[in-house]
Amino acid sequence: MEQIVVVGSLNMDFAVEVKEMPEKGETILGKKVSLIPGGKGANQAYAVSRLGKKVQMIGAVGTDIFGDKLVGNLEKAGVGTEGICRVENRESGQAFVFVNEAGENSITVIQGANQDLTEARVDENEERIDRCDAVVIQLEVPVPTVVHTAQVARKKGKLVYLDPAPARPDLPDELFASVDIMKPNETELKILTGMEVSTGKEIILAAKSLLKKGVGAVIVTLGEKGCVLVTEKLVKEFPARKVNAVDTTAAGDSFTAGFLAAYEPDGEKREENLEEALLFAGKVSAIAVTRKGAQSSIPTLAEVMEEQKGED
Ligand code: RIB
Repeated sequence: MEQIVVVGSLNMDFAVEVKEMPEKGETILGKKVSLIPGGKGANQAYAVSRLGKKVQMIGAVGTDIFGDKLVGNLEKAGVGTEGICRVENRESGQAFVFVNEAGENSITVIQGANQDLTEARVDENEERIDRCDAVVIQLEVPVPTVVHTAQVARKKGKLVYLDPAPARPDLPDELFASVDIMKPNETELKILTGMEVSTGKEIILAAKSLLKKGVGAVIVTLGEKGCVLVTEKLVKEFPARKVNAVDTTAAGDSFTAGFLAAYEPDGEKREENLEEALLFAGKVSAIAVTRKGAQSSIPTLAEVMEEQKGED
């Protein structure tokens, strides 16, 4: 994919380092808090650009200092930010990200201006969508906007990629019907389908239920176990590289960006390309989890290539 449009969220992350996650009703002492640009949409756009592809972000931030910083960080990475609107009297999105010593996280998002990304605001950016090859969406902006974006992109013949996070059980059928590739993790797959996902077989059955709703291909990410690709023709597992994870924030976002940066769906080698892109995606996210924070953890193409040399 040469040109990508990301329609989605921008958040300022309050990354709180803790020894262990607090229990219900418990007060704990944290180690440190850092302010780091994040938001699933912005992380994905940032990562696509770091991996050397052209990307435009469509989103909404407030007129506050966080909005300046979030847009500024994307600009520094080379992301086109003209499609990000500034909403008066609204704070930019914020995320409270707890990360424990095992690198696991737990995130609460306050949507703020992300709620103001309306269908009309997406339509104002129609020309940007016209020029791209793929449109990427997530669920941190209003669902009607996500559905509208998917339908507009599908009508224009663009590849539609949905990262269904944060997952919800009530997504409308017309959304599934407009999605080419969906990338849930196990928990998200369970919420989306209402099905059990405790075994490999159950995961495949749940992914296939999404295919029945009209999704073209499902990539289920399995954390340190890698991912599984489920299409009408194929079920294939891709193991992950073993790394010492310090923070899994934006692991999924860097996976998405890696996949899209490497995927070339045209031509006879379509299936082969899909598999190569998944291997590359795994490499990008394996690096991201060895670093702290969201956008701060995302590698450049040169860094991914360097790492790859070490493996050969
Ligand atoms: O995927 C990680 C992101 O989720 C964080 O950056 C946080 O902002 C939330 O959107």
